[in-house]
Amino acid sequence: MHTPTIHEGKYREILRRVAINKKDLILPIFVKQTEAGRDQINAMSTIRRISLGEINQYSKIIIEAGISSIIIFGIPERRDRNGSYAASKDGLVQQSVRLIKQEFGDLLTIITDVCVCQYNLSGHCGIAIDNSYNIDNDSSLNLLSKIAISHAEAGADIVAPSSMMDGQVRSIRNTLNDHGFEDKKILAYSVKQLSSLYTPFRSATFYKTDNYDAIDKSSYQIGYENKRQVMREIETDINEGSNMVMIKPGMLCTDLIYMIKKEFDFPLVVQSVSGEYAMIKAAAKQGWINEEEWKINSFVSLKRAGADQIISYFVMDITKYLDS
Ligand code: PBG
Ligand code: ZN
Repeated sequence: MHTPTIHEGKYREILRRVAINKKDLILPIFVKQTEAGRDQINAMSTIRRISLGEINQYSKIIIEAGISSIIIFGIPERRDRNGSYAASKDGLVQQSVRLIKQEFGDLLTIITDVCVCQYNLSGHCGIAIDNSYNIDNDSSLNLLSKIAISHAEAGADIVAPSSMMDGQVRSIRNTLNDHGFEDKKILAYSVKQLSSLYTPFRSATFYKTDNYDAIDKSSYQIGYENKRQVMREIETDINEGSNMVMIKPGMLCTDLIYMIKKEFDFPLVVQSVSGEYAMIKAAAKQGWINEEEWKINSFVSLKRAGADQIISYFVMDITKYLDS
């Protein structure tokens, strides 16, 4: 049981007023192969890497907290040049999905991250043609589609391509349909801005890569200075058959969120990323800011700007302020 703080009533009221409900929240989960090294993530003190053996125990906790959507990221130990393990039937994500669906069925909507950066040695989101890290868009699309199919076969409800390759939504939509998965949905990481705010995520999910903060993804992630490109990326993904679009990071993009919602009447998911979590945690630990207030404020500002659903590492933390 938690001890209510003096502000708890106030926070509950604020969240109620902007109509944040548990069904609008998506919890990210990091899955690792084995129990070994029950390691904590330096920059993400309350987030654990969950092993396959623990996944259903953890899923139960999530469901009991009233959360009904998760997004799964795998931390595979096997990495190679071509990210070949990513589409494996017995891959980590595929196994996790199967385990959770077997036990909990539709109690959890499962979204899976579809990308290759945790599976290839370069840490890039696509496949390189040669030793220079020139990403080959078309062979990457081919792999992304295979990954999506393997997730769908395992039972994922929604696949979320996050590699920012051109045409990733169309390619995955077509391949899903060809395999009889018309009912599976696509959540497109449409606007993924180049940001050092993803560094804690990479430190958490890249198995044995030392230079994770030095990977230059500028040839496919987009600059934060270009509003028009943001709108173009969203429009393209809607036209390619996406069911929901996403923008990240969260807190730095409230103007864009507002603009997107105004321009397109389309489901919008916002991801509050690892660096946003880390900044709040770090400053709060020093006693420089009030952690609870910041958490609440970050959810509220994203919702106020127009987010339909929010992915955040703080999802479990704020369930205590929500009745439904
Ligand atoms: C990789 C991926 C990243 C995130 C989600 N998927 C990192 C990156 O683009 O380098 C970031 C999530 C976070 O920081 O919480 N496809
Ligand atoms: Zn990636």
